[in-house]
Amino acid sequence: MLCRVSPLDIGGERGVRMIIESGKLKNVCLVQMAFNLILYLCIFKKYLSMADNYLEKRYEEVFGAGRTKVKRVGHTLDELLTRNRSYRGYNKNYVVKREELERIVGVCNKLPSARNQQVLRFRLLTRDTGADIVLHNIKLGAALPELHLPFPGTEPEAFIVICSTVPENKMVDIDLGIAMQSMLLKAVEMGLNGIVIGAFNKGEIERALELPYEPLMIVAIGKGTEKIELTTIAPDESHAYYRKEGIHYVPKVSVKDLII
Ligand SMILES: Cc1cc2nc3c(=O)[nH]c(=O)nc-3n(C[C@H](O)[C@H](O)[C@H](O)COP(=O)(O)O)c2cc1C
Repeated sequence: MLCRVSPLDIGGERGVRMIIESGKLKNVCLVQMAFNLILYLCIFKKYLSMADNYLEKRYEEVFGAGRTKVKRVGHTLDELLTRNRSYRGYNKNYVVKREELERIVGVCNKLPSARNQQVLRFRLLTRDTGADIVLHNIKLGAALPELHLPFPGTEPEAFIVICSTVPENKMVDIDLGIAMQSMLLKAVEMGLNGIVIGAFNKGEIERALELPYEPLMIVAIGKGTEKIELTTIAPDESHAYYRKEGIHYVPKVSVKDLII
């Protein structure tokens, strides 16, 4: 015989009798267990939501309501900026792929631009696609001529040549600076490094790469191998970078002295 048993009946005499009578002890126990489980889940859920509200309330008490809660994922801007040094030596075992250069240039349609003209254009060059042409027409580390940088076997092998569709002017140059720094920060975020190169043979690069526009600047990309450290200087001290015991030091004017 199959009888209906309300879980509430189960503790009572009637329930016990019905269970014994029906011989469905096992089924009733299962119903009881399911009921208990649901009950516990409800209590637990309520407890969690109370804990949640408590934390939210405490946050608002301490930091004020309506403030943005910042969840830190990845690197801070300060970390990226500090790691974004100018590298003149790269690990040749790491071959930069075109897709990586595309990701780096990918930041450039999210940038401010004078009159939003977006005049910059980018030619991507990897080891197999003409990087050697650029390499033979750039100058690295002019402040350390005795070192003849880059050292053989550490040359960069991926470049982004930046051109403008209009003649260079102040606004184009500002766009250029914003684009280069943004791309370098992206490279650092991706675990790569780079350097801005202004000293290059314009005519030769334009001709050899058959560029439709005049090249304005070049950014090299790769896996940097150098140890580079920043040092703090007063405004009247030498700004020249130097090397000592295998470390490349870059002097930077202190923030205190930058503020006028
Ligand atoms: C506009 C610009 C042009 C540069 N051109 C060259 C260059 O032609 N060759 C080179 O070795 N470094 C070049 N650099 C890199 C600077 O030498 C470097 O930024 C500076 O020494 C400070 O080092 P840091 O970038 O690690 O702070 C250039 C940097 C900028 C911003």
